[in-house]
Amino acid sequence: MSAIELVGGRPVAIVGAGLVGAGWAIAFARAGLTVRIYDSNQDTADASLPWAAEQLEALHKHGLLGDAPDTVKRRLTVVQTLEAGLDGCAYVQESVLERVDVKRKVMLEIERLAADDLIVGSSSSGIAASAFANDLTISPRVLIAHPVNPPYLVPVVEIVPSTQTSPQAVIFVDALMQAIGQSVVHVRKEIEGFVLNRLQAVLLREAWALVRDGVASCEDVDKTVRDGLGWRWSFMGPFETIDLNAPGGVADYAARLGSLYYSIAKSRTGEGPWEPELVTRVEAERRQYLPATELASRRAWRDDRLMSFAAIRSRSGSHE
Ligand SMILES: NC(=O)c1ccc[n+]([C@@H]2O[C@H](COP(=O)([O-])OP(=O)(O)OC[C@H]3O[C@@H](n4cnc5c(N)ncnc54)[C@H](O)[C@@H]3O)[C@@H](O)[C@H]2O)c1
Repeated sequence: MSAIELVGGRPVAIVGAGLVGAGWAIAFARAGLTVRIYDSNQDTADASLPWAAEQLEALHKHGLLGDAPDTVKRRLTVVQTLEAGLDGCAYVQESVLERVDVKRKVMLEIERLAADDLIVGSSSSGIAASAFANDLTISPRVLIAHPVNPPYLVPVVEIVPSTQTSPQAVIFVDALMQAIGQSVVHVRKEIEGFVLNRLQAVLLREAWALVRDGVASCEDVDKTVRDGLGWRWSFMGPFETIDLNAPGGVADYAARLGSLYYSIAKSRTGEGPWEPELVTRVEAERRQYLPATELASRRAWRDDRLMSFAAIRSRSGSHE
């Protein structure tokens, strides 16, 4: 079923139009949906339109847009109130700050204004929906739909129901996300950081520790991922990687190298927070490679690379 059929021709809403919310707007509009954009900061909401127009032109240039950029842009509207945003909507993608109090307040407002069948997906990076969306009339229709930034270029989305989310809401969001071209991961139990950020957390914990202990420079840690692990990870996950890295597959790999990984894991049980002195060192090294004044242009460069990569992936498929 198409995305338009799934929402019954009704609009979808973005609540919180920062980095991620504005990116979601493009992902929905690209699939043909009418999108209302609301942010409590009107300037942020207004800025999302010219920014989206630029991204749509770039997507078009890379052959990643089915319709003309202007056609897709016309599907986007900025609204001035949450009420106007939610009016008649089938789905809302909440993308406000990553704070329990802010998300709870937004859920209370949505509960007051929402139609009886509105489904609510939250972009939360790691806070479970039970922490801010339980014991409301809308609770059965709220779940986490956690993207990677930017959602219109990196397809994965983690669907994490709360303890009160209905199975029907999970089925709907799964279908909607697939219909707009996202790759759905189901997180079966609420856990801080879900799957994606827990995996990222392990890698970052080790990266900081290796630099702290003088084992390698930041650049050499980055190079190890950029020119090593990342090559395979761009098209296969860690389990498939190790399945292919021993003659007899994953069980053979575990027999050969399980004790090494266990020994490494035991050596990192007492890790503390990222200490300010270490952060200063890493910041200084990064600024040698990339001055702070060039962060924005490097982000644009990253997105251009992602678009080239997305174009290759859309031609070859992710598994072939
Ligand atoms: N940045 C990322 O890489 C990333 C990736 C995946 C998920 N997320 C998650 O997405 C959410 C948004 O993150 P972001 O990076 O876009 O943050 P951001 O700071 O860029 O945007 C948040 C926006 O929410 C708005 N806002 C705050 N309170 C509001 C309210 N009551 N009503 C409407 N708008 C309100 C703010 O004005 C701001 O524009 C967070 O939960 C974050 O963890 C972020």
